[in-house]
Amino acid sequence: MIILVVDFGSQTTHLISRRIKDFGVASEIVLPKDALANIKKYKPKGIILSGGPASVYAKNAPTINKDIFSVKLPMLDICYGLQLRSYLLGGKVISGRKEYGPARIKLTNKKSKILNKLPKEFTVWMSHGDAVLSMPKEFTVIGSTDNVLFAFVADEKNKHYGVQFHPEIEHTENGNQILDNFIEICGIKRQTQVLDPQGMIEEIQAKVGKAHVIGAISGGVDSTVAGTLVAKAIGNHFTPVFVNNGLMREDAEESVRSSFEPLGVKPIIVHVEKEMLTKLKGVTDSERKRKIIGAFYIEVFEREMSKLIKSSHDVKFLLQGTIFSDVIESKGSKLASKIKSHHNVGGLPKTMQLELLEPLRHLYKDEVRSLGKKLGLPDKAVMKQPFPGPGFAVRIRGEVTKLRLEQEKKADKIVMEELGKADWLKKVFISFPVMTGAFSTAVKGDGRFFGEVIALRVIESKDIMSTVWSRLEYDLLQTISSRIVNEVPDVSRVVYDITTKPPATMEWE
Ligand code: XMP
Repeated sequence: MIILVVDFGSQTTHLISRRIKDFGVASEIVLPKDALANIKKYKPKGIILSGGPASVYAKNAPTINKDIFSVKLPMLDICYGLQLRSYLLGGKVISGRKEYGPARIKLTNKKSKILNKLPKEFTVWMSHGDAVLSMPKEFTVIGSTDNVLFAFVADEKNKHYGVQFHPEIEHTENGNQILDNFIEICGIKRQTQVLDPQGMIEEIQAKVGKAHVIGAISGGVDSTVAGTLVAKAIGNHFTPVFVNNGLMREDAEESVRSSFEPLGVKPIIVHVEKEMLTKLKGVTDSERKRKIIGAFYIEVFEREMSKLIKSSHDVKFLLQGTIFSDVIESKGSKLASKIKSHHNVGGLPKTMQLELLEPLRHLYKDEVRSLGKKLGLPDKAVMKQPFPGPGFAVRIRGEVTKLRLEQEKKADKIVMEELGKADWLKKVFISFPVMTGAFSTAVKGDGRFFGEVIALRVIESKDIMSTVWSRLEYDLLQTISSRIVNEVPDVSRVVYDITTKPPATMEWE
C-alpha cells in the first residue's frame, strides 16, 4: 500500500516521502509523464503532487495529463501541484505573486477530515512565485493567509485537497498532522519501520565479500557513520582516507583517528594544506573555488588509492557518506533546478573503476544521527554540525588567503566556544562566522582602521531544506561580537544574519 508522489522538481519532494515514511507508509516518487502508467503499476492508495520551481506559464514548465485529476483516489496538491491543477482545469493562476518563508494560516472550515486535530491558526512555510486566483468549482477554500486566499482548498466529494504552502517542511507547524490526516483519508494501513544497523552491516558484508573498501572520510557525521558501518562489517579490509587540506575544522583529523582506530581500522591521513592555498590563490568566484577544491581532492585521493592498490589490496569499492539531501541538492531530482554544484555526489571521477558504496544514500540527517547512536558512536561524533565539503573556503567571500583563513578559523573557534558555554549547541544546526569581503571603519587604540566585517550565521534546522535563525540572547551576541573584534586581527565589526532559508541558503556562497 503506497502513496504515489509526482515530482515537479521541488527541492522538498523527497521530504514528502520521508515524512510519509515516518508514518509507516511507503511511497514512490515518479515523474509527471510517468504518473498515469505508475498508477496502473503500483496501484497506490493516494497521490501527492509535489511543488516545483517553475511557473505554469514558463516555456518548458512540467505538466501532466489532465486525466490524473479524474482518477478515483485521494489527492493532495502541494504548491506547484495546486497551481497546475488550477491552470489545467480552467482556474486562474497569476504570475509574480512571490512569497517565501513563514505566513500565518487561518482555517475556515473545521469539518474537513484533512483539518483533523489542527488548530484554528498556525504558521506555514511558503515558497512560491505564482499564486492561484480561482479553482475549479468543486473546490472550496478551507484556509487562507493574509496574502493567499487559496492557501488550503478542498474538494470533499472527491477527497482532493490542495495547499499553497509546504506541509513537508519542518517549520510548517502541523505539517506532519496534515500528511497524517491525508494518509488516514487514503485508508492506508501503516507499518512500523526501524533503522536496522545489523541488517545494514550484513548487507555491506554480502555486497563487498572479501574485497577491500577505500573510504572518503571527512570527520563529519555522515562519513563517520558510514565508515563505522563498514568498519564493523569488514574490519581492516576497510581503509578510510582523510585529506587534510587545511579548510576543515581543526578537530576533524583527531576525530577521524578516534573514530576508527578503536575499531582496528587505520586511517590514511594526507597533509596538503599548503598546496591547497596555492591552488586557491587569486580565485574569487565561489563555484570556481568549489571546483578547484573538488578537483584537488580527487587528485590527492586518487594518488592515495593508487598507492593502496599497488600495495596489493584488492580494492573494489569506494565508500562515500552521501545522504539523501546531498542527492537532492545536487540535482538528484530530475526537474529540480540546480542551486549549487555542491556536495559529495558525483564528485569522484568515473575513471576510478570502483563501485560506489553509499549505505546512507536514502537517509536524512536525523536518521543518520540515530543510526550513529545505535552503532555506539558518542554524541560528540553524531551531533557534530554539518560542515561543507569545501570547508571554510565557502565561508570566506572572495579570495581565500592565509590571513583570511586564519581570521575565519579564529572567529569560528570563538563562536563555537561561546555557543557551547551558553548551551546553545544542542539546538543549533549549524553556526559559523562569514568573512564577508565587506570592509568598514573602526577605531582601535588610537587609530582609525578599515577592517573586514564578519557576519554571524547561527541557524536551526532538522532537514536542511528549511532554516530559521537562532534567537540568541543579546548578551551572548555581545560577548561573541566583542571577542571577535578584540581577538581576531583586522576585523572591524560583527553583524548577525537574520534570514530564513528559503530564500537564503545556509552558507553565504
Ligand atoms: P545551503 O547553503 O545550500 O547548505 O543552504 C545546505 C547544507 O549544505 C552544506 N553545503 C555544502 N556541502 N559541499 C558540501 O559538501 C558544498 O559545496 C556545500 N555548500 C553548502 C551546508 O553547509 C549545509 O549543511
